[in-house]
Amino acid sequence: MTTRDEHVIESKVKHDLQPEEMLRVIFDYTAKIANERHLDRVLMLMANMGREMIVSDRCSVWLVDRHRNELYTTVAHGVSGIRIPLTAGLVGHAIGTGEPIFIDDAYTNEPYKMVLATGALATDKTTGYRTKALMVVPFRNNDGEIIGAYQAVNKLTESEVFSAKDLEYLTLAASYAGKSLESVQLHTEIEETQKEIIFTMGEIGESRSKETGNHVKRVAEYSYVLAIGLGMPREEAELLKMASPMHDIGKVAIPDSVLKKPGKLTDEEFDIMKSHTDIGYSLLRNSSRRILKTAAIVAYEHHEKWNGKGYPRGLRGEEIHLYGRITAIADVFDALASDRVYKKAWELDRILNLFHEERGSHFDPAVVDAFFANLPRILEIREEYRDEMLEETAKS
Ligand code: C2E
Ligand code: SIN
Ligand code: SIN
Ligand code: SIN
Ligand code: FE
Ligand code: FE
Repeated sequence: MTTRDEHVIESKVKHDLQPEEMLRVIFDYTAKIANERHLDRVLMLMANMGREMIVSDRCSVWLVDRHRNELYTTVAHGVSGIRIPLTAGLVGHAIGTGEPIFIDDAYTNEPYKMVLATGALATDKTTGYRTKALMVVPFRNNDGEIIGAYQAVNKLTESEVFSAKDLEYLTLAASYAGKSLESVQLHTEIEETQKEIIFTMGEIGESRSKETGNHVKRVAEYSYVLAIGLGMPREEAELLKMASPMHDIGKVAIPDSVLKKPGKLTDEEFDIMKSHTDIGYSLLRNSSRRILKTAAIVAYEHHEKWNGKGYPRGLRGEEIHLYGRITAIADVFDALASDRVYKKAWELDRILNLFHEERGSHFDPAVVDAFFANLPRILEIREEYRDEMLEETAKS
């Protein structure tokens, strides 16, 4: 694969970029990166951008994979698609300390002698490449967590060493990289996790209460609309949309005799029912995937009430995570608007009255307001995902 961005640097000695050249590089790449959804291609653009900005021979972008305790890069100049232990090499070192590393000559450097011997110098032996200057710059996401590092090899200007200015430029590129990569990774993660969720929910929907299938889809859509209505950033709203289908996942552990009981639950049965929140939380809480973390919050807090009278913990007001406060309304609206084994669907007027009454008691007033402000869209969603529609489709 050859693109304009991968042009080979022909001449031996280059000059540092003039300010207007630097600006062109930054504008060119940031525009391209903003339009790119594939992690591989974003990493490649990042690497090329870093290389051009600081006039290095090679540049690679490494990402931390915390699940596997590894560092990985899908593309780099001179390397491709490798994974190494999280603490390995100069990159692992820089990520561990959070500090950048400068090396003027890999062959005479003392502080990193050991790391270099098994790293760059060993690689040079097999490839014939001559590593001289090295610079590693860790970068962080919006939450301040280190999520990766830039590594640049060999400065192509006459000085042959990286300068403090180069560090500044690569730090700038890295801060941009942190933000862009987060959004791309979120997309990738959404796609992967979506499949897992649909599969899991499908299993539950088939073997368990009949309501589950479309109920969770509607709750997802309502949650998204409410989140956007409350001014949540689109990406976070999408995250909530992906996570909210799992709000009742703890019902997998509730016995049929309770879950499918046609009539009203006894106090004892309702206590069993309530445990679906804690169970859902314990199923999801240990994942480091962002979607599943969000889902854990939703599973745990969707039956909390603004006035503190909900369960399982009796949280009150903004102690309840916004995700829980949003899903609570989405869930109850859908439960009331649908037939259940234990009740018939309510008329819309009756539901709306309940939301007026419960504004500030069961529900966060701001979320109720967002609900009414977006009612037309919510009713559209109810139509789009009607239960009968699906049954008809399934039969035909
Ligand atoms: P669900 O059916 O998804 O209902 C979710 C929530 O919607 C309920 O949470 C409740 O806040 C609201 N909701 C549903 N139906 C009604 C209703 O007729 N009147 C009012 N005012 N609110 C309603 P809740 O109460 O914590 O219940 C959690 C889950 O427990 C329910 O999920 C359902 O699976 C089960 N459940 C609750 N009550 C009964 C019951 O009488 N019989 C049976 N078989 N299951 C019940
Ligand atoms: C990765 O870390 O390999 C991609 C993102 C994720 O799986 O959470
Ligand atoms: C989306 O951005 O995923 C679609 C919005 C919606 O489902 O309402
Ligand atoms: C959030 O906005 O992400 C949650 C904080 C809250 O409970 O309001
Ligand atoms: Fe629930
Ligand atoms: Fe529910």
